[in-house]
Amino acid sequence: MPPRMTTLGEFIIEKQKDFKYSTGEFSRLINSIRLAAKTVNHEVNKAGLVDILGQTGTSNSSGEEQQKLDAYANDVFKTALTNREIICGLASEEEEDFVSIANKNGDNRNKYVVMIDPLDGSSNIDVNVSIGTIFSIYRRVTPEGTPAQLEDFLQKGTEQVAAGYILYGTSTILVYTTGHGVNGFTLNPALGTFYLSHPSIRIPEKGSIYSINEGNYAHFPQAIKNYIKYCQEIAQDRPYTSRYIGSLVSDIHRNMLKGGVYLYPSTHSHPSGKLRLLYECNPMAFITEQAGGKASTGTQRVLDVEPTELHQRVPFYCGHTAMVEKIESFF
Ligand code: AHG
Ligand code: MN
Ligand code: MN
Repeated sequence: MPPRMTTLGEFIIEKQKDFKYSTGEFSRLINSIRLAAKTVNHEVNKAGLVDILGQTGTSNSSGEEQQKLDAYANDVFKTALTNREIICGLASEEEEDFVSIANKNGDNRNKYVVMIDPLDGSSNIDVNVSIGTIFSIYRRVTPEGTPAQLEDFLQKGTEQVAAGYILYGTSTILVYTTGHGVNGFTLNPALGTFYLSHPSIRIPEKGSIYSINEGNYAHFPQAIKNYIKYCQEIAQDRPYTSRYIGSLVSDIHRNMLKGGVYLYPSTHSHPSGKLRLLYECNPMAFITEQAGGKASTGTQRVLDVEPTELHQRVPFYCGHTAMVEKIESFF
């Protein structure tokens, strides 16, 4: 007999007490994300087979080309979260503005807002490279029973009640935290069930991977040029390895399991970096800290950044604690 494996559903029930608010609500939230993840996974898997690849012809809120699967994933997560009547609002990297969500009977009594990057690394879709979904969950700050407002979304990362990502890779894995460590669940596609495969993820003691798009080197801040030189020529514990997939979820996931740091500095075309604070950096920072790592803008803890707009970007250095601290020392 194979060993008894814990399913995601069982795990949520087992860990109910870890979630400081109503357990039933959190189960419904994660359940709707789990369902949406399976649906998107199915679509991503057959992306090469059907006529779903290519551009929709529209751009997302940041003016980048939006691919069909981006829009599809956005709809799937939005529908799943709306149907369960568990959130009062949603903000997505794919949408200009947040949406306030009422229950079918018209009330706004739900307590949570979700922020989501429905498909991360989407430029990798048509070349069969891993992509992901990132989500971040907050309690609303405006009174229950009223429509969600911008201030419900512009909360510091420290206020997250849960965050996670789904990596659609060689296998599909859902990783999340509620502030009590990080756990990963791998999808058995034959059964459609997520099983606990990576309990209590901790970033390894030794980190030697650095992940950065060096094509932008000429426009990096001097501190980052110095850090790259440090990795390549100076560090006592060399050699380091450079690995960059170009899908944040994949790069962070690998670095978390193998020990490394992800860097997206300010560049000429992206003076505040490219990554979005609310949809990408805060959830990844929360997960990374919970796995024993660190996330910084170079000069400030990411989770302490006071958001001023939905699609705000920040420079992002995230992963192995000592490596992030080394980067900070160059600023
Ligand atoms: P998205 O597909 O959601 O727009 O995100 C793309 C992001 C992130 O996944 C990745 O790490 C980064 O863009 C890569 O950027 P470069 O191609 O500039 O390196
Ligand atoms: Mn992204
Ligand atoms: Mn995206």
